[in-house]
Amino acid sequence: MIIVPGPASQKLGRKIAELLKQKIVPIEFKRFPDGESYIRFDGEVENEDVVMVQTTSPPQNENLVQLLLMADTAFKDLKAKTITAVVPYFAYARQDQSFRPGEAPSVKTIVTLLQTCGVSKIFTVNSHNPAILKTLQIPIEDLSAIPLLAEHFKNKGFNGAFSLALGKKGLATAVEAAKILEGGYGYISTQRDRITGKVTIEKKSLPVKDRDAIIFDDIISSGGTMAKAVAWTRKQGARTIHAACVHLLLIGDAESRIIQSGADSIVGTDSVSSHISVVSVAPLIAEALVKRGAKR
Ligand code: R5P
Repeated sequence: MIIVPGPASQKLGRKIAELLKQKIVPIEFKRFPDGESYIRFDGEVENEDVVMVQTTSPPQNENLVQLLLMADTAFKDLKAKTITAVVPYFAYARQDQSFRPGEAPSVKTIVTLLQTCGVSKIFTVNSHNPAILKTLQIPIEDLSAIPLLAEHFKNKGFNGAFSLALGKKGLATAVEAAKILEGGYGYISTQRDRITGKVTIEKKSLPVKDRDAIIFDDIISSGGTMAKAVAWTRKQGARTIHAACVHLLLIGDAESRIIQSGADSIVGTDSVSSHISVVSVAPLIAEALVKRGAKR
């Protein structure tokens, strides 16, 4: 197995290679003055099982094009045996169907492009709708970093904290966390207006009075959903409130919005690198590659 850390996941890709004790082939990359991407492999991949690590957080279109260039070049020009793409944050996964007539179900197009460029297997982390991924053309394995986030809080002394998910669909996330934190679980019901994108939360009571509450979610983008959830949990009398999120996109003032709404802390993973990416998904990905990934 050869690991290729893509431009967007240099540190994470190297960490995975270190854990697996596998060789790296570095990528030389640059952005041309007009914004186009340049990619060059600085090593051989011929006849190798190649694992490309490239997250597709913003600038997602650029990061996706880089991944497509990498896969296509390695598979078709440099004659790699197989291409596995590790895409910790999978762009466009939230647009997984046509919610309104005529809308592009974007994630399908992205997967088709990856397949056309030679990718035969994808690993991702806490994808927005894992059920949809199972219907796409390439085998896509969705790993969960929620236990790692819950462990982080347990190690910080929050055993017994109440685990909250956002939206009923996310309840499994709270259940996963509660198995580790052992303080019970629940969810805050959310609804997003399909046209304006505005999120509202249902103001149902939560059993968090004088307790530590940890709100788990897959993505913090604008921070609007989490900020509203934090404010409501605060109103319900929680002692401390923490936002735990896998993919920290942190667009604009997302972080300060959440803190100002009453969160005591925000933590996330290095699926998308940021100054609050305190939990690494490298061991999770390395383990999955060993058990179910490309051969070594
Ligand atoms: C929604 O379904 C997701 O799980 C997140 O809650 C959402 O994408 C977060 O977006 P934002 O931070 O912009 O509210």
